Amino acid sequence: MGNCLTSWFSCFHSSNITPTTFTSSDANYSSSTPQPTTTAGSTEAAGSQLLSGATVSTSDGIDPESDPLSPKVNGGRILESPRLKVFAFSDLKSTTRNFKSDTLLGEGGFGKVYRGWVDERTLAPCKPGTGIAVAIKKLNDESMQGFEEWQSEINFLGRLSHPNLVKLLGYCWEDKELLLVYEFVQKGSLENHLFRRNAMVEPLPWDLRLRIAIGAARGLAFLHASDKQVIYRDFKASNILLDGIYNAKISDFGLAKVGPAGGASHVTTRIMGTYGYVAPEYIATGHLYVKSDVYGFGVVLLELMTGLRAMDKHRPNGQQNLVDWLRPTLSQKRKMKNIMDARMEGQYSSKAMLQAAQVTLKCLEPDPKSRPSMKEVLDDLVKIQAIKDKPMPFKRGSGSGSGSGSGSGSGSNRSTNTHCLGGRPALNHHYHTPLQ
Ligand SMILES: Nc1ncnc2c1ncn2[C@@H]1O[C@H](COP(=O)(O)OP(=O)(O)OP(=O)(O)O)[C@@H](O)[C@H]1O
Ligand SMILES: [Mg+2]
Repeated sequence: MGNCLTSWFSCFHSSNITPTTFTSSDANYSSSTPQPTTTAGSTEAAGSQLLSGATVSTSDGIDPESDPLSPKVNGGRILESPRLKVFAFSDLKSTTRNFKSDTLLGEGGFGKVYRGWVDERTLAPCKPGTGIAVAIKKLNDESMQGFEEWQSEINFLGRLSHPNLVKLLGYCWEDKELLLVYEFVQKGSLENHLFRRNAMVEPLPWDLRLRIAIGAARGLAFLHASDKQVIYRDFKASNILLDGIYNAKISDFGLAKVGPAGGASHVTTRIMGTYGYVAPEYIATGHLYVKSDVYGFGVVLLELMTGLRAMDKHRPNGQQNLVDWLRPTLSQKRKMKNIMDARMEGQYSSKAMLQAAQVTLKCLEPDPKSRPSMKEVLDDLVKIQAIKDKPMPFKRGSGSGSGSGSGSGSGSNRSTNTHCLGGRPALNHHYHTPLQ
């Protein structure tokens, strides 16, 4: 722990939790690593190690809540001392009525996500339907991988604060139970909105897709612009949550890494990520760049434009990987409209479509050095949003088949779960396991 108090880098690269004492009685809460709790009752405590030595960035004076789509990226903070609530397992159990299926919000690689309720002020769990809703993520076995991701989520999200990052409220660690408690984000994931064929979910119009892309770009730009750059590493539609007015909130920091130190251009890591979204240089070499996130962002942009999944085994050979299939079309002005999601017809101008295609193409450059920064991407997207040209009249050519019917709309397609891309075969497709 001593090391963790002196270095952000070593802190985030440590896979072990070293025992330390935390003093929940101290009004200022000493900074500490999460500890297992064996006693019932909630205790408020600092969630993890103090980011000592790192400059604390403060808000730039903009009220990000009142202007969530401002082009500024620095509407967030790195908290010096995160305050995370330590929840008792019994409380989380009761607020979800013993993790009953009707409180289930979804399921991912870490485990199931349930809806619970807490008091708005104290965060004390309360009766279902009272207080404010929260999302409770419960690890579904004792996998060491899961533990590392749980720890990483606390280390990163516990101290990063930005309107386009989901808020982590606290955690629970009792015996073998590991849980995370987040703000509840009303409209769920972008993946659900984009790919689920559900009569209850309206297709996202063009302007909302742009709004979501801008919000997510702002979140990533904030991570990349922090004093110690944070590489997010798992950018994909299922990790973008949408609030009531479609502000994007990036979730899941289980794979996040501190960026390169000492003038290095990259960090070398085991290859982890999700098929279809992972940058080619990272798959080929294990070298992870800040710009590797930009590639993942480009993949999501392509998904937003086409309404098609990054990877879909139901598509014919040659079309399963969206980037391999459609990247060439992004530079072909006359063919572009054929790959746009038919559910957005008549909603965007030709100029906006072509500029969006150009940004996507730049993000998907094979060489990471040729990709723009997320700040540049954000600025470009804001400019596209300001285009007021008349929408293109709809006239479909011989398109490659867009989002209106890709055959991937069941919502149960878990091919988008994160996998570790290197080393050993995936044991369970729900888990973050090596990808090659
Ligand atoms: N804070 C939240 N508010 C509302 N719903 C949430 C929240 N967090 C997660 N969910 C729901 O739970 C689902 C599962 O989320 P989770 O992050 O565990 O898995 P995933 O993103 O689909 O996959 P992966 O584990 O690879 O990230 C999401 O798709 C979303 O519908
Ligand atoms: Mg997720």
